[in-house]
Amino acid sequence: MSLAVTFSQFGGPEVLRVTEVDEPHAAAGQVRVAVRTAGLNPYDYKVRRGGYGSPPQLPSRQGYEFAGVVDEVGDDVTDVSVGDEVLGFVSIGAQAQFVVVPAKNVAPKPAGLDWPVAGGIGLAGNAARRSTDSLALTAADTVIVTAAAGGVGLLATQFAVATGATVVGTASERNHDFVRSLGATPVAYGDGEEQRLRAAAPQGYTAMLDNAGEVAVGVALGVPLGRINSIVDYDTAGIGTVGGGRKNRAELEELARAAATGELVFPILAAYPLADVAEAYRRLEQRSGLGKIVLTVA
Ligand SMILES: NC(=O)c1ccc[n+]([C@@H]2O[C@H](COP(=O)([O-])OP(=O)(O)OC[C@H]3O[C@@H](n4cnc5c(N)ncnc54)[C@H](OP(=O)(O)O)[C@@H]3O)[C@@H](O)[C@H]2O)c1
Repeated sequence: MSLAVTFSQFGGPEVLRVTEVDEPHAAAGQVRVAVRTAGLNPYDYKVRRGGYGSPPQLPSRQGYEFAGVVDEVGDDVTDVSVGDEVLGFVSIGAQAQFVVVPAKNVAPKPAGLDWPVAGGIGLAGNAARRSTDSLALTAADTVIVTAAAGGVGLLATQFAVATGATVVGTASERNHDFVRSLGATPVAYGDGEEQRLRAAAPQGYTAMLDNAGEVAVGVALGVPLGRINSIVDYDTAGIGTVGGGRKNRAELEELARAAATGELVFPILAAYPLADVAEAYRRLEQRSGLGKIVLTVA
């Protein structure tokens, strides 16, 4: 037997359990990973509360990203070996002692990459990379990034800054120094946000990367709908909604490389032991803080 996070009814963090489940094994083309760390994402709790997308069958596992050590390799796997340190993605169930995935779902973990970063960067990195790329930003752009201190937003901010665009990011005051350190101008969200954003870029905005469901602010500031991408708002007609998808080893490898060299900054807010998974989600669901929350499994 092995341990996995499960829930048998929809609801808040209190429905989460760490349960004994059958130990999985790698079949042909697959690898088994003994998980060291696994990331938490808002998508997890949206699904777990019920009524979001197509509900999973219950009992359900939880979690989509992990890092750990390969401890079984199935037939026909030639590019991953037992003992390899990897990070990876799974369709569901990363928050467990073991995950079994196709070998192509894992990438080597650089020696210098911390385990919490390795286990937490995959999903946010994928969404940030794809959403930022969808706008084809250039140095001629002035772009708003909402939730610039959130898991996705802090990476999107860095990807946007790297294009040479002028970047203005919304965040709570306590995160303004951090947003500034990424090369963006911080602006507080909430009452008066539109006026503050206007003052921060008198030249006007040409694009928006929305990570907070704040598309209306961009529209009010005159950003053309076709140059707004949201990973939260699927209701506003005419905007882009490019988010997570098409995850692959090459992308994961590049995220890991950039995080290991310090080219990408990816702060960890907290690492909770597996047994404290409900507590970890209570913290995540407060929707404030700086950086990623992960579980430490081993
Ligand atoms: N479509 C996709 O593929 C996809 C993929 C990943 C995530 N998402 C969604 O994107 C959203 C962000 O995900 P995440 O992982 O980055 O979440 P997260 O790390 O939990 O984001 C929390 C951050 O949101 C900020 N925030 C809260 N309310 C805000 C507001 N009204 N305006 C601006 N910032 C606000 C807070 O900033 P302060 O601490 O500075 O207050 C906090 O740091 C979630 O809704 C998630 O479900 C979608």
